Amino acid sequence: MPLPTHSTPLRFAVIGCGAVARAQHIPNIAASSRMELHTCVDLDDAVLAECRDRYAALHVTHDWHAAVADPEVDAICLATTERLRLPVIQAAAEAGKAVYVEKPLATTLTEMYSIREVVRTSGIAFCVGHNRRASPAMLAAHAIFREHMERPQHAAWRWQREATLPPLPDDGVPSIAVRINDDWHSWKGWVFDKTQAPHGPMLFEMTHFTDVCNWFLEDEPEEVTAVASGMLNEAVIVRYRSGALATILLANNGTFAYCKELYEMMGNGGYLAIDHMLEVRTAGIGGAPDRIVFPMIDDKHPQIGAEGGVTGWLAKKRAACAEAALAQDPLLQFTAEPDKGHAHALERFVDQILGGPEVCGVDAAVLATEVAFAAIHSAEQRRPVTLAEIRAGGQR
Ligand SMILES: NC(=O)c1ccc[n+]([C@@H]2O[C@H](COP(=O)([O-])OP(=O)(O)OC[C@H]3O[C@@H](n4cnc5c(N)ncnc54)[C@H](O)[C@@H]3O)[C@@H](O)[C@H]2O)c1
Repeated sequence: MPLPTHSTPLRFAVIGCGAVARAQHIPNIAASSRMELHTCVDLDDAVLAECRDRYAALHVTHDWHAAVADPEVDAICLATTERLRLPVIQAAAEAGKAVYVEKPLATTLTEMYSIREVVRTSGIAFCVGHNRRASPAMLAAHAIFREHMERPQHAAWRWQREATLPPLPDDGVPSIAVRINDDWHSWKGWVFDKTQAPHGPMLFEMTHFTDVCNWFLEDEPEEVTAVASGMLNEAVIVRYRSGALATILLANNGTFAYCKELYEMMGNGGYLAIDHMLEVRTAGIGGAPDRIVFPMIDDKHPQIGAEGGVTGWLAKKRAACAEAALAQDPLLQFTAEPDKGHAHALERFVDQILGGPEVCGVDAAVLATEVAFAAIHSAEQRRPVTLAEIRAGGQR
């Protein structure tokens, strides 16, 4: 399908120009031929000066209302912390402007359902920053996994010990294990501020991973069981309508010296792993390559670990950590990054604005967030929580 085109770049206002905006959205918009960095909005003058001087933002302001109302602005990228969501989305919808909003979509179910109502009623193009949906490794893995789930080619060597097998209801039904290795010493102050992130990583990190599981399984999540010991060790099991299971472990006492994200999927006698969006490995999936390696972004050690993939990235990381220790500058540890899809998500959103398919629309984001809220309630109340309960409670 040919991609839609637009003769002039879409003019974006970025509201909230903090860490993720300046690491990703602002440089990605500035570098794109299909987007223009029209306005940057923040409360911090030093941040706005950087947006103007380093990224050539045409306008800077403290006032997000003015940016949304500006007739020259076509689209909004909302990247404040989750404390500010509905008022901006509502104003953008009234002005008929497209919105890309960072995850999590909202901090309460009530606000989230109000956002869904606003988006559905207005019909604006809308995308939530579950950027993994646009990562090249995730997209390749998704295509392989869905093909295997829908049209499995069983391995000729699969051991069939008994001539006949009992008909099991979950024969072939998939399971996903998500392992997140993070280091909480790297987190920002607002993470611990209940007015900005009332549910901690169980909401602001979890929606990335519940969204990935929903996307890969293409199934209805029904029930969630979660255990949390504080905010650093959190484990979640999601049961889907088909009987599929997703287990998600957020381990925040880990280390940046190793890969952060491992997704392992098993179903229909096959296996697929996505290791830190650096490589995809498969086994027992007929016709799929054993291993696919994906390019890294911003490689500061191209001569080290040149083979790429996980071993290449680890070699670069070891060298970078040694340099960081020597210079006593922890920022030097960041060498090459896996492509988590941030730039592609915005480019795909431009396609969506111009008539292309949704990237992560409001319904997908609501579903991922509902699963996260079920996990929050389950951990608090020490019992399984159904999605039906969450919906009934949130709509009251
Ligand atoms: N998708 C991802 O990979 C990813 C990664 C990191 C963070 N995030 C999400 O992005 C959001 C921002 O995170 P961050 O780490 O960049 O936070 P941050 O604190 O660095 O940035 C937030 C910015 O918003 C500004 N701001 C606050 N209120 C404002 C207002 N009323 N008007 C204008 N600006 C305002 C602040 O001054 C700050 O510069 C969070 O919701 C977080 O969960 C997503």
